[in-house]
Amino acid sequence: MIDIYSDPMGAAESAALALKNMTGKLAHDVALVMGSGWVSAAEALGTPTHEFSVTDLPGFPAPTVAGHGGLIRSYDIAGSNGVIRALVFLGRTHLYEGKGIEPVVHGVRTAVKTGCKTIILTNACGGINANFKVGQPVIIKDHISLTGVSPLTGATFVDLTDLYSARIRKLIKNEDSTLEEGVYVHWRGPTYETPAEIRMMRAIGADLVGMSTVPEAIAAHALGAEVVGISLVTNAAAGMTGEKLNHEEVMAAGKAAADRMGTLLSKLIHKL
Ligand code: HPA
Repeated sequence: MIDIYSDPMGAAESAALALKNMTGKLAHDVALVMGSGWVSAAEALGTPTHEFSVTDLPGFPAPTVAGHGGLIRSYDIAGSNGVIRALVFLGRTHLYEGKGIEPVVHGVRTAVKTGCKTIILTNACGGINANFKVGQPVIIKDHISLTGVSPLTGATFVDLTDLYSARIRKLIKNEDSTLEEGVYVHWRGPTYETPAEIRMMRAIGADLVGMSTVPEAIAAHALGAEVVGISLVTNAAAGMTGEKLNHEEVMAAGKAAADRMGTLLSKLIHKL
């Protein structure tokens, strides 16, 4: 079998070329990755000009997780300075799927190769900070990686001081001043955390925990894109309430908050 990821940037360029051919658009401006529960928030963006399966493009594995749609949509959104071409990934590949790091970041790399200057990453997460309530979107201000896996190899000493764009975080808060910011910790999964692991995460400064976003943020930033991350708190983290965690609860919280999140994303795209 040919390993398409032996040249990851070439793989992303091939997918970007296929995307141009399929949409007839020479470039896209912004990409959104919709995490667990965020898929219905995409409805707020209107009617896509194109929709296809990720597997129609080279390098994308078929999705394996309920709630991770495996679709790509292209939108032409009317903005005050002309049309904004948005690429929306309904679903993503996670590290816990065991396919390696390359498919996890292939989508954002493809997006940057099609011209996207901004990457908006959304996810579902557990709330470690007791002030955060279920159903609340939280802007990611920084992250802690506990997986020990980077999408970058070699002597690529990329600065991550302003990984989550301060400019865009300010734009979002100007739009909705009630939104809070937090530090997201990347947990490989697929198990949820133990209560002891959550206590450790709190002790090292984490507010939110989830199984995505961090590799994509690093890969997109390394290619020069501006990155923003928004987490939806779908449950209190393990051990905080005495309740057990389950994926259905995560999906239900996402559906309940979809309208608010869709409006937020739509307004953000117009402000970029
Ligand atoms: N932990 C990790 N990932 C998650 C959680 C959680 O509590 N909730 C949603 N995704």
